Amino acid sequence: MTDPSDPLLMDKIVNLCKRRGFVFPSAEIYGGFRSTYDYGPIGVLMLRNVKDAWWRTMVQLRTDVVGLDASILSPPAVWEASGHLQNFTDPLVDCRNCKERFRQDHLDDLDVCPSCGARGTLTEARSFNLMFKTHAGPVEESAAVAYLRPETAQGMFTNFANVVNTSRKKPPFGIAQVGKSFRNEITPGNFVFRTREFEQMEMEFFVPPADGPTWYRYWCEERVRWYQDLGIPAEKLRLRPHDADELSHYSVGTSDVEFLFPWGWGELEGVANRTDFDLNQHARHSGVDLSYFDQESATRYVPHVIEPAAGATRSMMAFLLAGYDEEEVRGETRTVLRLHPRLAPFKVAVLPLSKKEPLTALARDVLSEVQPHWMCDYDETQAIGRRYRRQDEIGTPFCVTIDFESLEDKAVTVRERDSMTQERIAIDALAGHLRDAIGF
Ligand code: GAP
Repeated sequence: MTDPSDPLLMDKIVNLCKRRGFVFPSAEIYGGFRSTYDYGPIGVLMLRNVKDAWWRTMVQLRTDVVGLDASILSPPAVWEASGHLQNFTDPLVDCRNCKERFRQDHLDDLDVCPSCGARGTLTEARSFNLMFKTHAGPVEESAAVAYLRPETAQGMFTNFANVVNTSRKKPPFGIAQVGKSFRNEITPGNFVFRTREFEQMEMEFFVPPADGPTWYRYWCEERVRWYQDLGIPAEKLRLRPHDADELSHYSVGTSDVEFLFPWGWGELEGVANRTDFDLNQHARHSGVDLSYFDQESATRYVPHVIEPAAGATRSMMAFLLAGYDEEEVRGETRTVLRLHPRLAPFKVAVLPLSKKEPLTALARDVLSEVQPHWMCDYDETQAIGRRYRRQDEIGTPFCVTIDFESLEDKAVTVRERDSMTQERIAIDALAGHLRDAIGF
């Protein structure tokens, strides 16, 4: 098994991501663009699977959560009300000597520049707002200012009344959204862990005020379980309650779901008890009543909100790290991504032993048996051993090999990724066999 504290693990993951088409540095042909990344042919599949797995758990398998896809561009009024214009800032200091810029809260010694080592050269801290500002329309005037959302959450609050009026849901119920968010991070880094453009998976769960604490505990447990169910070992996960001085401006209680990254524990997701802060703020700033009238008890209240807020891109990185493994097989090192089948980019790879007819025709027939059910790869190049290695490295749970005997016995060899065991399966029975083995 791979040692999670292996100092080379990050390099290996970054390298694998580049080599196999998971993640590329953005605008690479122009020398790259700091801390932005593009998801390649394999990565886009995995990232989509992470988001789909979240959606399945949070929306599809429940009756009390509905979905939303709100706009990324938003007017200043939203961020005025949410508190982001005033509070979503980092304290920045500059070194007068080397001109480097740092987050004050990341410095151990406020007297020494961590870059050039000069003493007494750091400026006073200034607040730096993390939101990306732009202009909507052709005129760059203040009336046209717009922001790229720094979180998806506000779309759920501003649409609270729309959703209540159209979905026949009543508290306790949630609104879920997956999408891009943007933050002008001062210190992006650690690959896709902290980037300026990233994807979030957030759900705002609206509850009667008295039920807030119970639902907060419920969502903390549910969310830790989600990562475990998708294959992250329990010892690499923990739930860490925030100290009072760590809490965001809107929260009375937050716990982070943390993963043991190669550099230590890092946040995957925050579960926050936001109380009625957001709905009250938006009601006050917009003048629209965002209270809820409960017919049964004939009472009116402003719901409290419990928010599990996860990062899709960051979670994908954690799943890659947790799944990465190297083992000795017949004197050679085999690299294998032991990804949960739900997250694996391809579920099945179809591999004809030769790239000549009539084997390829049969392989195409086999592919058409499985392709409607799962994302499948088809590869007829190189020696079969190398093709297996490639599929192991991208985490494909099953390889289906078509050999010359297949032409006679109408059967194929199914190889399982983790155990490397092989089974002969009739082509007629293949889809059913794989469905049982993959689990869906
Ligand atoms: N609505 C609450 C909220 O946005 P957050 O803790 O700031 O809370 C939630 O963000 C999650 O979004 C984080 O746990 C992390 O997974 C992800 N995230 C936040 N900033 C990120 C960044 N710069 N790069 C990648 N992921 C980020």
